[in-house]
Amino acid sequence: MFSGKYIRLRRLEGNDADIIFSHWNNYELRQYLPSPLPSSKDDLTELVRVKDKSFRERSEFFFGIEECCTSKELIGIVNLESISWVSRHAFIGSFCIFKPSLRGKGYGKDTMLTLLDFAFNVIDLHVIALMVESHNKQAIGLYEDCCFTNRGTMRELVYRNGKRCDVTMMDVLKKDFIDRYGILPKGENVF
Ligand SMILES: CC(C)(COP(=O)(O)OP(=O)(O)OC[C@H]1O[C@@H](n2cnc3c(N)ncnc32)[C@H](O)[C@@H]1OP(=O)(O)O)[C@@H](O)C(=O)NCCC(=O)NCCS
Repeated sequence: MFSGKYIRLRRLEGNDADIIFSHWNNYELRQYLPSPLPSSKDDLTELVRVKDKSFRERSEFFFGIEECCTSKELIGIVNLESISWVSRHAFIGSFCIFKPSLRGKGYGKDTMLTLLDFAFNVIDLHVIALMVESHNKQAIGLYEDCCFTNRGTMRELVYRNGKRCDVTMMDVLKKDFIDRYGILPKGENVF
């Protein structure tokens, strides 16, 4: 496990499907994720199984975000996907804190710094990229704070709430991150 100040990143386990299911079909949350379509409990059990297999095969790292100071609750998810072990790049495809009441409290930034430290200082990736809807100012502000840079806009790429939305492409190089944040301390139970 990799720990920040308030969270740790850990692999998903069997009964996490129930916790994710309790948040997953909320449109407020799902509108930010790759698919807004509802999921069944079986879908999420399968998702946990598939993500665990991908983790073992090193094709995707899908982490649960666990609050590590008080509740030890699973509060969100984040991943590194489309990993190239040749070019040493990866994309962040999903990132969310499930409950709106837990957003804006620093968990997201702590998660992103912990994830980037893992990507650059543990598995030696060279560049991490992502795409974010251009109106998502909170997420873009957080990414900029974590050394991501705007690399351009894809116009009207997604359809959301009856409107077409622009999408901003962002990336961060290992050296950008190290220059600003260095090598972060790891939690005690590193796998
Ligand atoms: C995006 C998300 C994961 C961020 O997590 P969070 O816990 O809410 O974020 P934090 O509290 O750690 O945010 C901290 C940073 O975000 C930035 N930020 C927050 N609100 C902002 C705003 N309105 N404008 C600009 N930047 C903002 C700041 O850099 C802030 O750092 P600071 O507090 O040190 O100034 C979370 O809000 C979420 O789950 N949103 C819904 C799903 C989503 O949008 N996912 C991203 C899809 S690409």
